Amino acid sequence: MVQIVVPSILAAQADGSRCFDVEAETVGEALRALPVADLLFNERGEWSTHLNVFVRCPRNTGHRHDRRRLDPARAHEMVPPPSQHANAGFAGRKAECAGLDRLLADAQAGRSAVLVLRGEPGIGKTALLGYAADRAAGCRVARAVGVESEMELPFAGLHQLCGAMLDGLGRLPPPQRDALGTAFGLSSGAQPDRFLVGLAVLSLLSDAAEERPLLCLIDDAQWLDRSSAQVLAFVARRLEAESVVMLFAEREPDELDALARLPDLPLQGLPDDCARELLASVITAPVDERVRDRILAETHGNPLALLELPHELSPAKLAGGFGLPGEQPLPGRIEASFRRRVEQLPAATQRLLLVAAADPTGEPTLLWRAAAVLGIPAEAAAPAQADGLLELGAQVIFRHSLLRSAVYRAAVAEERRSAHGALAAATDAEVDPDRRAWHRAHATLAPDEDVAWELERSAGRAQARGGLAAAGAFLQRAAALTPDSGRRARRSLEAARAKQLAGAPRDASTLLATAAAGPLGKFDRAMLQRLRGQIALDTRRGGAAVPLLLDAARQLELLDPGLARETYLEALRAASIAGRLGGGVLEAAEAARRARSQEGAPRAVDLLLDGLAVRFTDGYAASAPALKRALTAVRDQGRSAGQDVRWPWIARRVAPDLFDDDAWHELATRNVQIARDAGALAVLPLALNYLAGMRTSDGNLDAAAALLEEADAIADATGTAPIVFGRLLLAGFRGHEAQVSVLIEASEPTAIARGEGVVLTYGELARAVLHNGLGHYQEALGPAQSASARDELLVSVWSLPELIEAAARCGRTGLAADALERLSERTRAAGTELALGIEACSRALVSEGEPSERLYREAIERLGRTRMRPALVRAHLLYGEWLRREKRRADAREELRTAYEGFTAMGMEAFAERGRRELLATGETVRKRTVRTRDKFTPQEVQIARLAGDGLTNPEIGAQLFLSARTVEWHLRKIFTKLDISSRKQLRGALRDAGPTAVPT
Ligand SMILES: Nc1ncnc2c1ncn2[C@@H]1O[C@H](COP(=O)(O)OP(=O)(O)OP(=O)(O)O)[C@@H](O)[C@H]1O
Ligand SMILES: [Mg+2]
Repeated sequence: MVQIVVPSILAAQADGSRCFDVEAETVGEALRALPVADLLFNERGEWSTHLNVFVRCPRNTGHRHDRRRLDPARAHEMVPPPSQHANAGFAGRKAECAGLDRLLADAQAGRSAVLVLRGEPGIGKTALLGYAADRAAGCRVARAVGVESEMELPFAGLHQLCGAMLDGLGRLPPPQRDALGTAFGLSSGAQPDRFLVGLAVLSLLSDAAEERPLLCLIDDAQWLDRSSAQVLAFVARRLEAESVVMLFAEREPDELDALARLPDLPLQGLPDDCARELLASVITAPVDERVRDRILAETHGNPLALLELPHELSPAKLAGGFGLPGEQPLPGRIEASFRRRVEQLPAATQRLLLVAAADPTGEPTLLWRAAAVLGIPAEAAAPAQADGLLELGAQVIFRHSLLRSAVYRAAVAEERRSAHGALAAATDAEVDPDRRAWHRAHATLAPDEDVAWELERSAGRAQARGGLAAAGAFLQRAAALTPDSGRRARRSLEAARAKQLAGAPRDASTLLATAAAGPLGKFDRAMLQRLRGQIALDTRRGGAAVPLLLDAARQLELLDPGLARETYLEALRAASIAGRLGGGVLEAAEAARRARSQEGAPRAVDLLLDGLAVRFTDGYAASAPALKRALTAVRDQGRSAGQDVRWPWIARRVAPDLFDDDAWHELATRNVQIARDAGALAVLPLALNYLAGMRTSDGNLDAAAALLEEADAIADATGTAPIVFGRLLLAGFRGHEAQVSVLIEASEPTAIARGEGVVLTYGELARAVLHNGLGHYQEALGPAQSASARDELLVSVWSLPELIEAAARCGRTGLAADALERLSERTRAAGTELALGIEACSRALVSEGEPSERLYREAIERLGRTRMRPALVRAHLLYGEWLRREKRRADAREELRTAYEGFTAMGMEAFAERGRRELLATGETVRKRTVRTRDKFTPQEVQIARLAGDGLTNPEIGAQLFLSARTVEWHLRKIFTKLDISSRKQLRGALRDAGPTAVPT
C-alpha cells in the first residue's frame, strides 16, 4: 500500500483530503483516474504538461518521489469541487439556511436583500456563504474575499467582486463609468468621489442582475480595504428592487466598521447534538465521556474548534481523560493548534507556508517565483498539502484563514521580511507596482529612501483613483521608512492630509504629531497648522478650529497670500458655525481685515472675505455694498463650468442675509447642481439643506420636504449624521409644534457637544415662526429675541420681523420699536424689494391708523414682486387682522381669505388656522380644510413622481436619488397604481388633479 499525494486544486476524495492510499501495483491506474484539473498544475502552480505527483509509502519516514507524466488532454473531465459544507456534514443551521433561502426567493421575485453574517472565527460564516452559493441555482454569483494584508490596496475587494461584470461598464451613464474606471485603474480621470463609485457599482450590479438574480458573496469583510467596504456598504443601503442579494461574512465588527448599520445575523455555536455529531466525525479513536463533554463545553459549538482541537489530543489523551490545554479564548486556541500542526512540518514547508501567508493574491505562479528566490524546493509543498493545510491549484488556499494568521504570526520578524522581500522580487514592477512597493516596504527594516519613494508613487496612484485611505497608508509607511528627517516630516504631513480627506481625522492627527517633529519649511509648517484647524473643524465643529486657522492664515500671508485669504475665510466660516458656542467671530474678522490683499484683480473669495470682515467688525450696513459686490462676483463665477463642489462657500448664507432672494435662489440651486453633477455626496446633504431652506422660505414646502428626504437618504447611505437645520425651519413653517420640539430635543445636545452654535439659533428662529403661526406670541418672544440679538448670518436678521410681530401682539411696544430700528437699519442697507417689503410690514405692525394701512399696502406690493410667498401671505394676514380690528369686515374678509388660501396651498398649517380663526371672527363660515392631500404617497414616491413628471428617465432619476434605475421603475409602478394611470405621459396631469399641493415645483 502506498499513498499518492496530489498537488491538487480539487478534493480527490469526498472528505477533502489530498492524499489517498492505493495498492502499490495500481499506482499508474490510480493516477490516470485522478481528476485532470489536479494534474494540470505542476508544483509551481503553472499549467503544465509535466506533472509531479508524490507517491509516498507511509511506513517510510522519508518520502519516495515518483515522478510521472500525465496526459493533459483530459481537461474536459474536470469535476466541480465538492462544496465545503457538504464535506463537513453541514448541520445545525436550519433557521439560518431557511433565512438565506428566503433571501434568494425574494431575489427571484425581483426584490433585493442584504445580510451580514457575523460571528467569531470558525463559527461557520464561510460555510453558510457556501450554502447560499449552492442554493443559488439560476443565479449569477459574484464573490470577493477581504484579505488582511490587502487592506491598504484601494478598491481591491471591489475589483474582485465586479471583475466578471466589467463588460457592463459601457452601459453605465458616462460619469459613473468614468468614476468606476478610474477607481479600478482602468482609465485615468479626475479623482472620483467614492459615492459616485458607489452609484456606479449599484448600476453595474443592477445591470448584471437583469437576466437572472445576482448573488454577491463577500467573505472576510473585516479585511476589506476601506474604500471597498465603504462603497459596498453604500450599495447595500441603496438596494431595493434589483434582484441582487448581498451577503457579507464578517467577524465581530470594530468601531470603524463600514457595515455596522446593515441588517445582520449573529451566529452562535452549533446546537449540542450537532456539535456531538461533528466531533464524532473527527474523533475516530475511543474517547472518554468526560473528555468529550469537556471538548463540547469548551468549544461552545464552534465547528472549527470541534474539527481542529481534537488534533491536539493523542488517542491516549482522548481515552485517558486529560484536559485540553490552556484557558485562552477559542480563536487563539484554534490558532495555536494550527501553529503546532505547522511546527511539525519540515522547515522548507514552513517557509513556503509563510510566503503563501504573506502573499494576498494567492497566485500560484507568484508563490513559486518567490519560493525560487528563497531556494525553497518544489517538494516543500507536499507535506502541507498532505496534511490538508494548503491547497495549491488555480489559487493558493489555506485550510482556514486562522491558519494563515497562525503561520504569519508565528514567524519571526526576520523571516517575515525575507518572505516579503522574495514576493517583492517576484512581483512585476510594471504590472503590479503597488503590491511590489508594499512588499518591499514590509521587507525593509532600516529606512530606505528608494523604498519610501516607491511607496510615495503608489500613494499618488492610489489618490488619483480615489483611494484616499490607501494613499494615506502608503504615505504613512513611506514616512516611516524615510531616512531624511525633513522629507519624513513632509511625507507625514502629506499622509495626514490624505487621511483627513478620507474621513479618518484621528489617524490624521497622529500623523501630524510626527510631522510636527520636523524639520519643516515655513510653508509646510503653515500647512500643518491649517490642517490642524481643518481637523478641529471636522471633529468638533466649534470654536477650537478658529485660532488654529487664523494662525495658519497669518503664517501663509507672506508665503501665499491667496491661500492665506482662503484660510481666513475658513476661519470666519468656522467661527460662524460655532456662533455662541465659539465666540471667535470678531477676532477672525479683525485678523481678516488686516490681511494683505491679493495682487491683481480680486477673486470672488477675496471680495467675500473683505465684505465679511467688515460685516463682523463695522456691522451690517457698512458691509452691505462690499458684500453685494462679492455676491455678484460669486454668481458670475458659479455660471462657469468646473466649479469646486464647495462653491459658493459661505455666500449661500450671505445672500439671504442681504435679503437678495434672486441671488439666494441662484446660489442655492446651482450649489446643489454642481455637487450633484460631481456626485459629491459628502457635500450634497448640506447643499440640499440650504436649498430646502430657500424653498421653505419661498413657500414650496413640499419641494423642501423632498429635498430634505434626499439629504437624509444620502446621509443614511453614506453613514454620516443627518443635518437638521433644514428640517427645523420646515417644521416651523409648517407649524408642527410636536415636530419642532422633537427636532430641537434631538439636535441640541449634539449641536452643543459638537460646538455648532448656529444650529441653536436655527432652532430659535424655527420656534419663533412656529409660535407666531400658532398665535402664541408670548412664546415666540424669547426665541426671537435670543436669535436676533446674535447678529449671525441669515438667522439673526430673519428673526427680527418675528420679534417685531410677537412684541407688537404682546403689547411690548418698546421692544418692538427697538427691533424695528435694528431691522430697518439692515433693510435699508440691503435695499431690495424683499427687504423693504418686510420692513414696511413690520413698521405697519407698530404703527396706527392711516400710516399703518399705507405700510401694509406697500408691503403687499413690494413682496408681491419677490419670490417669497410666505412673507407676502403673512402681510395679507396681518393686514386682514388689522382691518378686522378697524371693523372693516368686508375688506378684512378679502385679505384673510387670500391669506387662508395661500397658507393652505403652501402647507403652512398653523398660519392657515390663524387665518381661519380670524375669518370666522369676521362672521364668515369656513370649513376646516385639511392642508395635505397626498399622505398616501411616501416622500420618496413624491420625489420620483416629480422627477418623472419633469421628463427625467429612470437612470437619470436614479442618478439623482442614488437608486438603481430598476428601483425607480418599481416605485413608478406603485405610483401609477395609486394614481390609477398607466404611463408617464399621464403623470403630470394626474398629479395636478390629485390636489393643489400634489406637485411640488
Ligand atoms: N454547520 C456546520 N456543520 C459542520 N461543519 C461546519 C459547519 N459550519 C462550519 N463548519 C466547518 O467549520 C469550519 C469553520 O467554518 P467557517 O470557515 O465557515 O468559519 P468562519 O466563520 O468563516 O470563520 P472565519 O471567521 O475564521 O472565516 C469549516 O471547516 C467548516 O466547513
Ligand atoms: Mg470564513
